[in-house]
Amino acid sequence: MTVDEERLRTLLDTFHARYPFDPAAHPQDAVILVRSPGRVNLIGEHTDYNDGFVMPLAIDRDILLAGRRRRDDVVRVYSLNMAAEAVFRLSDLCAPSPTPSPAPSPPAAASAAQSELAPTRSEGAAAPPAAGSWHRYVAGVLWALREAGCELGGFDATLAGNIPVGAGLSSSAALEVGIAVLVQELFELAVDRATIAKLCQRAENEYVGVQCGIMDQFAVALGRDGYALLLDCRTLDCRYVPLPARHVRLVVADTGVRRALASSEYNTRRSQCEQGVALLRQHLPGIRALRDVSPEAFAALRDRLPGVIARRCSHVISENARVQATAQALANDNFEACGQLMYASHASLRDDYEVSCRELDEMVDIARSVPGVYGARMTGAGFGGCIVSLVRAEAVDALVAAIEAEYPKRTGKTPAVYVVAPSGGAARIL
Ligand code: GLA
Repeated sequence: MTVDEERLRTLLDTFHARYPFDPAAHPQDAVILVRSPGRVNLIGEHTDYNDGFVMPLAIDRDILLAGRRRRDDVVRVYSLNMAAEAVFRLSDLCAPSPTPSPAPSPPAAASAAQSELAPTRSEGAAAPPAAGSWHRYVAGVLWALREAGCELGGFDATLAGNIPVGAGLSSSAALEVGIAVLVQELFELAVDRATIAKLCQRAENEYVGVQCGIMDQFAVALGRDGYALLLDCRTLDCRYVPLPARHVRLVVADTGVRRALASSEYNTRRSQCEQGVALLRQHLPGIRALRDVSPEAFAALRDRLPGVIARRCSHVISENARVQATAQALANDNFEACGQLMYASHASLRDDYEVSCRELDEMVDIARSVPGVYGARMTGAGFGGCIVSLVRAEAVDALVAAIEAEYPKRTGKTPAVYVVAPSGGAARIL
């Protein structure tokens, strides 16, 4: 993956201008550069927190970070996107807060990162530094690394991202994992990528207060150029599935819709799944999560569940099966089958899980009308955000043109369309 020279130059110029330094005095404190990508999920939605299967990929949109160690415990991080700086001491991150401060609203303007889900703070989480949502992701990752016993020092860093914010492409996970990898390189920490993913998830769950699963951080930390990841979210076993550009392309289209209720609905879905497990366990004593229920076993029991719970469970159980079937279809270069599974995933998310919205449905409908589009579906938590389409290379232009022409007519809104490629996960680039 080649990184745009101009972006790198701007990043480094800003870094040197903000944080001047005499290299002759401390020649060992070199500037380190890290690239951390966003992600898109091909299939396997709302399955990660049910111990299930997902198939995300890291994409060629990213956050670039430049950093250098300091001799004290001060951390200064400047975001070019926000034109703002986060400053705090590592020693201030540790104190648990007896009365957690209220969660800040996500900034309206584009920030360096913003989860599609808003924070809901839990009692007993560590005290964040001054409000400002992107600060929390940075501080949370450092907190989680220290909780895991990593010895960190202060550092100066600058970051610049081109991942659309709040669209469901995981700019927040990109920031978390990017900071973790930068710090790992600066302080030579012996932590592997899967541990980094888990610590970043912990930061988001416990420090930021967003109850996400492991998918986003894992995809960002362990993506591979040209591949999607078939991830078992219980064991974290991961198999790389090739997505050869000569056969298929991926087009992501942003509805522009952002729904404030996304995070409360997300938490409601999680608890409905847990209720489903508790009820099904009365008949299937061995199960721990919906992942343990086969479609056949569920078919025999679904009438015993309340209607809403049955539909939520039906989505998760059928989606897990679709992820497996997609992996099989891709192994056989059967992109038509893969596309049909994506449409089925969308229908299930719309009708059974009820996390779609009219704009997402319209976009999938437009994609379906374009010859050469194998399949399309909403991607991410839902209630707005993006769709992802799997497309024949020759059909990319026609799809982009169709979405740009049709979507505004049907919704009155302007779409943003990105052709993305599977890229490598977060890594040091210099
Ligand atoms: C968000 C969360 C993920 C996952 C998806 C839904 O992106 O961060 O962990 O649960 O929603 O598949």
